[in-house]
Amino acid sequence: MKRKTWLLFTALLLVGISAASCTSDDTSTLQVATDATWPPFEFVDTQTREIKGFDIDVMNAIAEKAGLDIEFVNVGWDPLLAGMAQGTYDLAISSITITEERKKDMLFSDPYFAAGQIVTVRADETTITGPENLTGLVGAQIGTTGAFEVDKIAGATLKTYDDIGFAFQDLMNGQIVAVICDNPLALDYVRENPDRIKTVGEAFTDEFYGIAIAQRNSDLVGPINAAIAELQAEGLFEDLSRKWLE
Ligand code: ARG
Repeated sequence: MKRKTWLLFTALLLVGISAASCTSDDTSTLQVATDATWPPFEFVDTQTREIKGFDIDVMNAIAEKAGLDIEFVNVGWDPLLAGMAQGTYDLAISSITITEERKKDMLFSDPYFAAGQIVTVRADETTITGPENLTGLVGAQIGTTGAFEVDKIAGATLKTYDDIGFAFQDLMNGQIVAVICDNPLALDYVRENPDRIKTVGEAFTDEFYGIAIAQRNSDLVGPINAAIAELQAEGLFEDLSRKWLE
């Protein structure tokens, strides 16, 4: 090769390398994990294939306030928790109950929503009236606070599901006697299938949803909490409750 050709080649190579590093090194876009199987908080719109819900609106509003560039990644619940512990994702919003156990693996924002576990049964069920007289096979999503509650009920046997939608299907088909899950999710399923299923009793746990933050992103806790406080003052959470929960 002639000297000039070499120079041109080297120059092009350098441009190529820097272009490649620009695109692969987008440290500025934060990956937000969500398990979009939990309506109306996070779900995939069957028409548009878009991820939507209460949490998606919350996260977008926080990102806008705090000036964060985010992108949602739809992952299963189990990989979501494992990925947050390992630092695979930057953040997660997924109706995640803040627990002492999870705090060992990831950071949490201040709470932004209060929820509780509730029992859902078939519409014609007459003997089960709540967790206190629940016996038989009970469905819950694996690794959720709902599954932890089933484990505490003496007469109940836990059947775990990766996707809670299949638990509700099994309930309607008579494969299991009840589902235990977060109350907003249960109410959404009941709203969709009013003559097949119903909730019994009240929500029987006090839980608070938080945004999970990977330990290496501890600098994001402050700005995210400040954004939550501002959005709270602006009434965003009431607006979103009207939009998604009524
Ligand atoms: N709140 C419950 C928990 O933290 C269930 C959350 C499940 N969320 C989901 N998107 N699948 O254990």
